[in-house]
Amino acid sequence: MKFTRTLVTCALPYANGPVHIGHLAGVYVPADIYVRYLRLRGEDVLYICGSDEHGVPITIKAKQRGCTPQDVVDEYNKIIKESFSGLGINFDIYSRTTSKVHSELASEFFRKLYDEGKFVTKESEQYYDEEAKTFLADRYIIGTCPKCGNPEAYGDQCEKCGSTLSPEELIDPRSALSGSAPVKKKTKHWYLPLNEYEPWLREWILEQHKEWKTNVYGQCKSWLDGGLQPRAVSRDLDWGIPLPIEGGEGKVLYVWFDAPIGYISNTKELLPESWEKWWKDSSTRLVHFIGKDNIVFHCIVFPSMCKGHGEYILPDNVPSNEFLNLEGRKLSTSKNWAVWLHEYLRDFPGQEDALRYVLCANAPETKDNDFTWKDFQARCNSELVAVFGNFVNRAVVLAGKYFGGKVPGNLKPAPVDAEAIAEIGPCREALEKYLSTFHFREALKEAMNIARIGNKYISDAEPWKVFKTDPERTASILYTCLQISASLAVAFEPFTPFAAEKLRRMLRVGIDAGFDHRLGEGSPTENFYSEGDGRALHTGIKPAEDIVLRWDMIGSGDILPEGHELGEAELLFRKIEDSEIDAQVARLEATAAAQAAAAEEKAREEALKKVEPAKEEVSFDDFSRMDIRSATVLEAERVPKTDKLLKLRISTGLDERTIVSGIAEYYSPEDMVGKKICILANLAPRTIRGIESRGMILMAKQGDGSLKLVAPSDAADGSTIG
Ligand code: MF3
Ligand code: ZN
Repeated sequence: MKFTRTLVTCALPYANGPVHIGHLAGVYVPADIYVRYLRLRGEDVLYICGSDEHGVPITIKAKQRGCTPQDVVDEYNKIIKESFSGLGINFDIYSRTTSKVHSELASEFFRKLYDEGKFVTKESEQYYDEEAKTFLADRYIIGTCPKCGNPEAYGDQCEKCGSTLSPEELIDPRSALSGSAPVKKKTKHWYLPLNEYEPWLREWILEQHKEWKTNVYGQCKSWLDGGLQPRAVSRDLDWGIPLPIEGGEGKVLYVWFDAPIGYISNTKELLPESWEKWWKDSSTRLVHFIGKDNIVFHCIVFPSMCKGHGEYILPDNVPSNEFLNLEGRKLSTSKNWAVWLHEYLRDFPGQEDALRYVLCANAPETKDNDFTWKDFQARCNSELVAVFGNFVNRAVVLAGKYFGGKVPGNLKPAPVDAEAIAEIGPCREALEKYLSTFHFREALKEAMNIARIGNKYISDAEPWKVFKTDPERTASILYTCLQISASLAVAFEPFTPFAAEKLRRMLRVGIDAGFDHRLGEGSPTENFYSEGDGRALHTGIKPAEDIVLRWDMIGSGDILPEGHELGEAELLFRKIEDSEIDAQVARLEATAAAQAAAAEEKAREEALKKVEPAKEEVSFDDFSRMDIRSATVLEAERVPKTDKLLKLRISTGLDERTIVSGIAEYYSPEDMVGKKICILANLAPRTIRGIESRGMILMAKQGDGSLKLVAPSDAADGSTIG
């Protein structure tokens, strides 16, 4: 099939927290590389994202904070949007699912399926919290995972083992709102009968999309083999898009129904006149970049919705990565075990490319992978700085020093020059192969290989030595190095766009980075100039002598002509110091320690609350035989060679006597002197460690076994208790 344009979408992040490196490595960095690459190849690409602002996690967060859900999404929409652009991820639009365009389009979508009888309805009993007076959908209900035993699994998913769940499957369910056990209550919902789409889905995915990544294809296959069930698309909640039908009062669209429609509505918001060609024309190639927990929604649910609707195209590919761990542990928003993008940008200003580079080099493409700060530092310093940065720096600085900052002539070529250049062509071909099939790690290795070729070439050729005896040969060496640098300025544009732009400034060239839809047809801004055919060229600077780099120049030996004036040499990357890494590791360690302390505290509180079962009934007579009185401690001392026993001299109002009591772990002798206490005065005497103990001190025994004195603070000694 011939496609004429590509629509790339990135999963819409929930606006209930900032974006972290797991999101970036799984979705946004690969998508950005892909979009930049296609644009370099001259393709017409639209790049869509926005925040996902409905759903239960957002209302829970609002409740915890005592603010409105709108406050929560306003805050995070802003943080996420700004941090993406701080990392060079510039969507054509980053809108939100609380926009007017979106709620209208999502309602229309639902309405069309409804009118055409594409839903089934079902009345069923669902969990309901009588205290909070709400139905407990999705994350409003917590319980033990039936698959792995995690006691904190949600009604829609277990985050520990990744299983998709329904509230009914949870063991010992409880309300996330009140903590109480829920009751069942009748309610009516609308369902998308996925089972009816099954034969079609089998054909479309399993037969026609065998090229999808194995993890994606495999997950689809196991869903399909397991048999699909109708899926509810409405919820009894008050945050969301109201069900646009009669009988839908008090209900909203399920967040996973409305959110993917956000891709369409955001396109419509950006291009109110021409959005339909992106969604309703089969010559558009749609690619969804998503995390692996989103596969079923993008490969099965949303395509079935679109199929039922009938007007929208289906994805041609759905690249998805596995998960990234952090320092050996699963990333977790709630446990604050993460590197947050907005914090990274604050702590490492000017180091945007370093993060993009490491997240791509170490991307969890085929299996879960680990991010460690040590590895981050090592890759920055030994790859970006020592290979790429070092090579370019030597080339530009030496050209400045020996040739007045101009590209020297190729005065005395040697076979090694052509050999080095010839090695680059195959790297470009490999880059193309890997980038077009979503193998970004491998692609990045090929880009780095070009820098390695350059670095080895300049180290072997030693222009700094040759210059003394042979300036003409030096001219050829640096001529060659500058051509390789120009190739690098193109090849690294998808991966490290900030460095690529800096490099283009040093070489004083522009780049054809394709049409930018934010500009509208042919409306150049400061950083862009129009080539006249409506395409905007992203240059960063207006290039001298109109040298405009293009993708297919990678590997060319004659990009920069003799005499072309170069810009100032700048360092492309800087070293990451130990102290910076140590600070990050220390922050994580503090997080882990705080988490452990909180868990311990929680366990202690739980233990304290443990209540002994009730004892058997006794008669009043039985009770009144106990002589319980208030008394005062006169003297106290430890019983030698024991940990638990105190010997107490007490005044009971009747007499003074000695009692030995096992409270030394909880009260010191000093604590006890002068204390009012309760005693059982007529307990038969016992001899403990050679001391006669007459009576017993009454204590409250807590759930964890610890003891507290029962103290009648102001009763006179000898008062009887009963
Ligand atoms: N908010 C979802 C998540 O973070 C992704 C939504 S993708 C969309 O997992 F397709 F629904 F928009
Ligand atoms: Zn589980």
